[in-house]
Amino acid sequence: MIGRIRVIGIGMGDPDQVTGEAARALATVDVFIVARKADAHGDLVAARQAVCDALIPADRAYRVVEVTDPRRGPDAGRDTAAYGKGVRDWHAARVKAYAEVIDGLAEHETTVGFLVWGDPALYDSTIRIVDALVERCAMQGRMVDHDVIAGISAPALLAARHRIPLNRIGAPVHITTGRRLVDEFDLGLGDVVVMLDGHLSCASLVDSFPDLELYWGAYLGSVDEVLVHGRLADVIEEVRRVRTEARARHGWIMDTYLLRQPGDAPAPAHAGPSFMAFPDVASWEPLTDGVVTVRPLTAADWPVLLAESNNDESLKWGFDGRPLTEAEARHKTAEAVREWRRGRVARFVIADADSGAGAGVLMVIRMGPPGIGVVGYGVVPDFRGRGFTSRALTLVCGWVFAHTDIQRLELGHKVGNVASGKAAERAGFTREGVLVGRLPNPDGTRSDEVSYFLLRPEA
Ligand SMILES: C[S@@+](CC[C@H](N)C(=O)[O-])C[C@H]1O[C@@H](n2cnc3c(N)ncnc32)[C@H](O)[C@@H]1O
Repeated sequence: MIGRIRVIGIGMGDPDQVTGEAARALATVDVFIVARKADAHGDLVAARQAVCDALIPADRAYRVVEVTDPRRGPDAGRDTAAYGKGVRDWHAARVKAYAEVIDGLAEHETTVGFLVWGDPALYDSTIRIVDALVERCAMQGRMVDHDVIAGISAPALLAARHRIPLNRIGAPVHITTGRRLVDEFDLGLGDVVVMLDGHLSCASLVDSFPDLELYWGAYLGSVDEVLVHGRLADVIEEVRRVRTEARARHGWIMDTYLLRQPGDAPAPAHAGPSFMAFPDVASWEPLTDGVVTVRPLTAADWPVLLAESNNDESLKWGFDGRPLTEAEARHKTAEAVREWRRGRVARFVIADADSGAGAGVLMVIRMGPPGIGVVGYGVVPDFRGRGFTSRALTLVCGWVFAHTDIQRLELGHKVGNVASGKAAERAGFTREGVLVGRLPNPDGTRSDEVSYFLLRPEA
């Protein structure tokens, strides 16, 4: 009957790297619960078994119960909210499956153990799942003790292998996932450690930050361990090649890397012009009127920007008549969150509230004297004529006046671009005048601009 649950960090799979405390804990466990993943690779299962074989005395009886891991569904393509819900549902299914094992323990089986790869505190759900199991037992009147034994994590081993500290003197370290890196990266973060990155996301930073130092490591702690170090732009192709070859050989890869700004000290956070920052993009609350939804533009939105830019209407009213390339769209969208954090430009995606499909883009730029925001927008052809622009403008302008120090919003369009002016007026903007020869045309001539304004409403 259950009396104790132990969460034991076993490092990167080499029995030599299991701490003495963890080794002693292993020898107290009656039943190990092990998740059997559908896509599990044999090397990891074998590494876990090798740890048990090496460290649990031969006369110590224990059993291993394999529990088929509930399916979690693909993470790629999910937004943060859907990703979070997917993970929570998956946890709940795991708790249920493990509870069944605990309920079926024999009388003499009192200690249950979970073997956790690396350190249980880092990107691992076992502690949360054990908390739920302990709570469930308490609700049934069974008091269960539990503890967590630390292990050597992938970042700790990466730093040791490269013979570097993870941080510079007095500076921060930011640990994140590949999924978040591109939108999140900023020189002010200090050193950045990236885990759970199936796509080598740092490749997207090469254009903007070629001089970053990359400390990369895969299969750390195993005989296949491989390390690469160098200037990001110089070594990215080598890392790509090593990853591809290793993945083909093993069928899987686990890698971790550190990105470090070269030189002595990290840049101060959000270096750049001293505009008041826009509210933190990470705490964005859904903005919708039921027909359109507006949210910050992120790296995943490049197809919307491409579709909005490359059509006859947009090219006709644009400045140079040149279509946007996919690389440019990817670069611009990848920069969007960083620009937002610098406080200069807030870029948004206009989405169809029903389907979630990207319908257009909108931006607010701080320009000219303090307190002025200039608005630009465009809707992809399939969504034109449905009032999306004025709806999105209304939502964003309301947000700007509620959450920033901007006092006056301005926008303009070329004389003749009637649809743009109508959308502005529907959103409450007032036509102000005509600015002669202000906007360039693709043929080298210049057009007059019709200008509009919207003032912060009186409090
Ligand atoms: C689910 S997380 C588990 C992290 C683990 N709890 C730790 O403390 O490192 C899996 C991620 O850890 C990193 N990782 C785990 N084992 C690794 C290894 N042997 N070499 C390099 N990175 C590894 C990879 O970034 C991988 O995507």
